[in-house]
Amino acid sequence: MSDKAKVIQKDLKKFSVTPNLSDYDKTYKDFTWENVEKEEIEFFEDGTLNIAYNCIDRHVKTDKKDKKALLFEGANGEKEQYTFSDLKALTDKFANVLVSQSVKKGDRVFIFLPSIPERYVVFFGILKMGAVAGTMFSAFQEMALVDRLSDSGAKVVITNAALYPRIKKIWKDLPGLEKVIIIERGSEEQPVGEKIVYYKDEMDKAKSDFEISHMEKDDYSYMLYTSGTTGKPKGVMHAHYDILQAIVTTKYVLDVQVNDIYWCTADIGWVTGVVYATLGPWGLGVTQVMSEGRFSPESWYKLIQDYKVTLWYTAPTAIRMLMGSSVDPRDFDLSSLRQIYSVGEPLNPEAIWWGLDAYGLPFHDTWWQTELGGISITNYPALDIRPGSMGKPLPGIKAAIIDDEGKELGDGKEGNLALLASTISSLMKTIWRNEKKFNSYFIEKWYISGDKAMRDKDGYYWFIGRADDVIKTSGERVGPFEVESSLVEHPSVIEAGVIGKPDEVRGEIIKAFVVTKPGIEQTEELKEELKVYVKKHLAGHAYPREIDFIDKLPKTRSGKIMRRVLKAKELGLPVGDTSTLEDY
Ligand code: PRX
Repeated sequence: MSDKAKVIQKDLKKFSVTPNLSDYDKTYKDFTWENVEKEEIEFFEDGTLNIAYNCIDRHVKTDKKDKKALLFEGANGEKEQYTFSDLKALTDKFANVLVSQSVKKGDRVFIFLPSIPERYVVFFGILKMGAVAGTMFSAFQEMALVDRLSDSGAKVVITNAALYPRIKKIWKDLPGLEKVIIIERGSEEQPVGEKIVYYKDEMDKAKSDFEISHMEKDDYSYMLYTSGTTGKPKGVMHAHYDILQAIVTTKYVLDVQVNDIYWCTADIGWVTGVVYATLGPWGLGVTQVMSEGRFSPESWYKLIQDYKVTLWYTAPTAIRMLMGSSVDPRDFDLSSLRQIYSVGEPLNPEAIWWGLDAYGLPFHDTWWQTELGGISITNYPALDIRPGSMGKPLPGIKAAIIDDEGKELGDGKEGNLALLASTISSLMKTIWRNEKKFNSYFIEKWYISGDKAMRDKDGYYWFIGRADDVIKTSGERVGPFEVESSLVEHPSVIEAGVIGKPDEVRGEIIKAFVVTKPGIEQTEELKEELKVYVKKHLAGHAYPREIDFIDKLPKTRSGKIMRRVLKAKELGLPVGDTSTLEDY
């Protein structure tokens, strides 16, 4: 196939709706953050702002006030709808609830809930009163929870009866945790305790108007823990001004327009859920769908069909699962779909070609990171797609491929994917109480992503791989150190080395190499036990799907596990430079 044939060409004349960004080159050239700031976000008279005002309150002053903001479908098919006015009242009430519980500006309040509307209500309630919202996956178990809640010094956690026992178990290790708010939905029996507060009781008492906090651009809004190669997860701090890049990308990339029905499948425990299931879509006042149910091809297609979803933002693992399923999308009416998108891990060209065939639409791959706070390199509805490429930088952002010294490399050269830090509007403000880690992201003016990539002669960026040992499994970022730490807590284990192993559906799976204590029988049962152990203590999604027993781990002379050696051996690749390796 010639290169040209490999390109998916766009013909704007054939579009039923003209995209918000119809000329990439021109927009890129003319773009300034100052100009879009004037058009897209509202400040208070004193020059401060609040994300919640931009996403909810301001719409209530317009004809969007009775517009549906959220269409929710519960796990048992129950349906609920919320208008922007409903959300204004609920989030005002919840902000009042927090104030009544002595939460102050800057305090950290964490959300540990399943995918239910209260997640969004409490998220915006927290932002309204100026506290910092921390979000967590409902799959987290005690180790993952204690790391996050103790490092952040969380004052309040909002959870439900089903998840509360995990908090209860670790509360003794969290001296800063003053209150737990329980959302009653979904359970008859509620936990009891002196420091437990019930959501409904408090909401019933609370006033439905609140004087929203005026926040400086750089004041913290939300924080998210994310994994690197070493150490415990780090708290990435985002600001209220992040709303600008969230809105601009939702408009220019996801192409949200006034009558769209938008569905981002991501969980709010993940940055995509925070930015593209709350900030971006509601910043533009669009109607969005939320589903509590688990993934299945039937239920997802039915949701698109029933709600007439027009814009769909999902992830490669889900796409590959849909691709591998026997459920035929053509058995559903998916004709409402106008544009479709993907994020989180490399989207293989086959998945794009399949999408084109199955839905009549190409998936647009988008690239960014928790630290960046918004889409940064991406494909656009109006721009030709080169399947396998992440696309081109967002207008406003300058990207480059640089070497380890910060020198820009030319087209076609593999190197570090870097962004000019001053051009990323929603770049994290810092790493919570870890300035050193924050500084390590930069080489002079460049923000270093940790990804290796290449730019072709036409300016398209191509992802090559991670420069470090971070694992991406089903789009979720997992630090090998966290999994290793969990494994070594098992009484049969001395030490463990963990890597990401390529997998056709999940991108990577977690593979562990385990050294057992003398006398321990290395059985298949023990492998199973270790998998369950990690699932139960760390997180449901972060367990090793494969385990090998090994006599000794490859280490540097200073004792650091050389995971790349494990990986090379596993994949039958050359081991590379082993000069720092101790005898192995
Ligand atoms: O390695 C890249 C991969 O995911 C990393 C960021 O992970 P996280 O902070 O969890 O954010 C994910 C969602 C924003 C990146 O460093 N990644 C993300 N998107 C892509 C990707 N790799 C290849 N192609 C992508 N489109």
